[in-house]
Amino acid sequence: MPSVTVVPHDVRAEARTGESVVDALRRAGWRSPYRCRRGGCGACKARLVEGRVRYAHPVADSVLDAAERAAGLCLPCRAEPVTDVVVDLGPAPLRAVLVSTALADEEGR
Ligand code: FES
Repeated sequence: MPSVTVVPHDVRAEARTGESVVDALRRAGWRSPYRCRRGGCGACKARLVEGRVRYAHPVADSVLDAAERAAGLCLPCRAEPVTDVVVDLGPAPLRAVLVSTALADEEGR
């Protein structure tokens, strides 16, 4: 499983196959900034410092354009780690959240 490291918070999670950065963090009990979680708003936009991600679902250029991709930005709500990745959230908050038993069961924990 690829690892997801979030800086500057120094938080780490493991991403399952087909799991987005946001979902891997949520499963580990962390809430990074997002709104739609469908690649439609850009609220989660962050810098991919290291590693590679893939997008199993198309991401519109209006949300993440070619120049932003070339500059190293990604959409963590849709980005699925292919390798170990480091994502920079900058000053955006990363909050610890409780992971409910139902969610953990649903996700196979
Ligand atoms: S949360 Fe809307 S694009 Fe990621």
